[in-house]
Amino acid sequence: MTEFQPTPFDIPSDTGGKDIGIFLPIANGGWILSKNKPELDGSYAYNRQCAILAEEAGFDFVMSMSKFRGYGGETDHWNSSLDPVVLMAALAEVTSKVKVWTTIHTILQNPAVVAKILATLDQVSKGRSGLNVVTGSYKGEFSQMGAWPEGVDHDARYDLAKEWVTAVKRLWTEDSVTMDGKYFTMDECESWPKPEKRPFLVCAGSSKKGMRFTSEEMDAIFLSGGEPAELAEASRAAKDDAAELDRYVRTYSMMTVVFGDTDEEAEAIARHYTDGLDEGALHGMLKAYGFLDEEIGKENAFVKKSRSGFMAAHVVGSTETVIEKLSEIFEVSNTDGLMMIFPDYMTGIPKFGKEVLPVLRERFPGKVKLTAHG
Ligand SMILES: Cc1cc2nc3c(=O)[nH]c(=O)nc-3n(C[C@H](O)[C@H](O)[C@H](O)COP(=O)(O)O)c2cc1C
Repeated sequence: MTEFQPTPFDIPSDTGGKDIGIFLPIANGGWILSKNKPELDGSYAYNRQCAILAEEAGFDFVMSMSKFRGYGGETDHWNSSLDPVVLMAALAEVTSKVKVWTTIHTILQNPAVVAKILATLDQVSKGRSGLNVVTGSYKGEFSQMGAWPEGVDHDARYDLAKEWVTAVKRLWTEDSVTMDGKYFTMDECESWPKPEKRPFLVCAGSSKKGMRFTSEEMDAIFLSGGEPAELAEASRAAKDDAAELDRYVRTYSMMTVVFGDTDEEAEAIARHYTDGLDEGALHGMLKAYGFLDEEIGKENAFVKKSRSGFMAAHVVGSTETVIEKLSEIFEVSNTDGLMMIFPDYMTGIPKFGKEVLPVLRERFPGKVKLTAHG
């Protein structure tokens, strides 16, 4: 099969290494639905410290999601969340190396507004900007503000996103843009300044339509799931899909790490989180995903999995166990990176940075020295 060269973005995957970043806890509660987990308030102060620690530890990127409605419950899970664009601009000022990737919903922002936002973030961050493009999946999150496009179904929202990102890219490179799309029109629309380098674009679409959109327009995809074999299949599918279009897409997954001094201790900590499951928040999350009350009561496979309290895939163990499990993911799945989540970022980031990251860097170094793009 032909090998496609990715556009370089000054990250390890440019040369076949692994991009390892942090999913910032911009909403209270992080990614564990539990009354027993460490307090994560989703504040600017906390996220600022996360970014500083991530940079010190040598992570490649920090990313924030965009969320407009929480899941409630006893812990008010995700009821409070920061704006990811303002946040990343501020974090760009307190860091100098780590990439700063924000998130914007295509159904909420006009492409000309977004072209300018990212061009600005590109200047503030001196070329470290990136954008997670999301179509918006949960009706209640947007109908609460009268912004849910009725009659535009899941796949059509990706058609909208395709027009949107086409407009944004043209505004970044052309003096004046005229287009007459189904969802967006531009009439000699101008946007200055241009970003010096096109911002990194990533999408987390898991549907066929979302994957095709990613293959056509994005630099990377976030895959769901955490088992090495399932990630291997998803990664291969994403890369094959992009290759059909003569494009290259980097593949990432997410992982929550629960550390302990021993495996037993880590497992006991994880069990403690699960024991404190916030039933109300779980119910709120499932409702947001479109589950009906009867289905939530029926305990299907997804509900059962969610009862662990962990919203994302997780590894639990001593440093050695975590290193082996993450290495196995990279070895088996051939994915290009990982976005880390911690129950407590203040201890998790430095520990991972000191004990795990150097080993992963050594085991998965890429083909040539990174200074090639330095
Ligand atoms: C790492 C990651 C980050 C995501 N960030 C957001 C987000 O910030 N806002 C949002 O509405 N959806 C977010 N999503 C949901 C995805 O954009 C996407 O809608 C979802 O994975 C379902 O895929 P589909 O749209 O192809 O059906 C995220 C998903 C993942 C895995």
